Amino acid sequence: MELQKQIDSSKLPQHIAIIMDGNGRWAKNRGKFRVFGHEQGAESVREIVEACAELNIPNLTLYAFSTENWRRPKIEVQALMKLLVKALNKELPTLQKNGIRLSAIGNIEALPEKARKDLLSVMEQTETNTHMTLTLALSYGSREEITKTIQEISLKVKNNLISPSDINESIINNHLYTRDLPDVDLLIRTSGEQRISNFLLWQIAYAELHFTETLWPDYTKGHLYNAILDYQNRERRFGKTSEQLNA
Ligand code: IPE
Ligand code: IPE
Ligand code: MG
Repeated sequence: MELQKQIDSSKLPQHIAIIMDGNGRWAKNRGKFRVFGHEQGAESVREIVEACAELNIPNLTLYAFSTENWRRPKIEVQALMKLLVKALNKELPTLQKNGIRLSAIGNIEALPEKARKDLLSVMEQTETNTHMTLTLALSYGSREEITKTIQEISLKVKNNLISPSDINESIINNHLYTRDLPDVDLLIRTSGEQRISNFLLWQIAYAELHFTETLWPDYTKGHLYNAILDYQNRERRFGKTSEQLNA
């Protein structure tokens, strides 16, 4: 049977997050500059966003640029920012057509002016779309996010708005960049690396992890369907026993 048809639409992950890795190696394998891999990676983004919208996945979060990625050569960082601007402007009609709301998490203030401006503009223009939320993690680092959260909550304690004993998981959730998103159900990382690289540490507490050797520019809808089928074959126990779940 066709892969897509094997997916159980009643057991879809409500939030998929992807660490899109392997653009550089993809380009290098072809004797090209790394930027070529990033350009090709943008095509995969388009395909996977479309696939998620077709499947009715309500939340997709893509790791596009980490706080640590600022350490890359300036020329690569600049190329990535330029590519972001290009993709935002190119994809706006597709977002509108598919009812996709664009959102962003991360230290957006750190982005170059033009990238920030276009990002905010596309976010505003797609604000009322309800079919799917596409969140781009840009200048995102989970430790930075948690640090910021602790600073904000501490300030509220200092100003007697809340007491330390009021602090609970829900308050912490409400201070994270991801406050409007449910926990991640399925985390995918491409390119064979099996690490988290400072992505959504709090939010993946009970996510199912799916690692694939495929490099991001080679990632297609078929790969995504495979990841979802893999997810649907897992038993998510959340600490309980299998017997309890099946009772
Ligand atoms: C992922 O691909 C894209 C970003 C981190 C921006 P890489 O650029 O990390 O590709 P590899 O890991 O070097 O192959
Ligand atoms: C993680 O990929 C960040 C993004 C995909 C944007 P990296 O390629 O930067 O991760 P590490 O540093 O190799 O772990
Ligand atoms: Mg990488």
